[in-house]
Amino acid sequence: MRQRIVAGNWKMNTNRAVARQLAGAVVQGVGSETRVQVVVCPPFPYLTEVAEVLAGSPVALGGQNCYERNEGAFTGEVSPTMLVDVGCRYVILGHSERRHILGETDAFIGRKVDAALKAGLRVILCVGETLEERQAGQVNSVFDRQLQGGLAHADKGLLSNVVIAYEPVWAIGTGHTATPEQVQEAHRFLRTRLSEMGVPDLPILYGGSVDAAKAPKLFAAPDVDGGLIGGASLKPDQFLAIVQAALPQG
Ligand code: 13P
Repeated sequence: MRQRIVAGNWKMNTNRAVARQLAGAVVQGVGSETRVQVVVCPPFPYLTEVAEVLAGSPVALGGQNCYERNEGAFTGEVSPTMLVDVGCRYVILGHSERRHILGETDAFIGRKVDAALKAGLRVILCVGETLEERQAGQVNSVFDRQLQGGLAHADKGLLSNVVIAYEPVWAIGTGHTATPEQVQEAHRFLRTRLSEMGVPDLPILYGGSVDAAKAPKLFAAPDVDGGLIGGASLKPDQFLAIVQAALPQG
């Protein structure tokens, strides 16, 4: 059985009070449910407070990024060991907003993945094509580049701590969710590549305009193991309904 995961990527949203409220509502809604691993990823300044709210619940804490080194003269960066120190079990790496807005390369992401895994974090590695790449028939070659780059340095023994998130760039924050068929086709290809690497059972999440209405059909696809949720993760009712939709059926 592959693990099912629903992670909320709050991006650069909330404030201190809202972060606490949102985390509290998620903790209450999730209760003792462990069939889906729920993760929340607040902005760095709120990690410690959200960790306090999550204490004793099965909801895990995640960072939205980290650097490739654990300490040193790297102004403005946050290290994997710092994330662990404040209670994170997960970190999102390779998000398309970091690739496209902040200019992160596959090589850089690969070094960060290695550092995060070595620090004991589970890495949610994001992959996904732009609209132009999809229209040019390059989806699978984009996956190959991003998977090879992202996992280039990863210790083989730690690969089981990787989670893949397929996030088509054209579907993020646009309301244009990929269809369940497009998502299944992409996840099937990714699963084939993971099988070749000896880790066929890594969870593969879908992200990109997931809401409570669309989640059941997306999560019913055979190779979809949950979701990475942006906008809807800021609305507790929506997010909790998405978690419900990810529960194993039958
Ligand atoms: P939206 O759910 O807002 O489209 O964002 C998806 C995302 O980027 C999650 O990491």
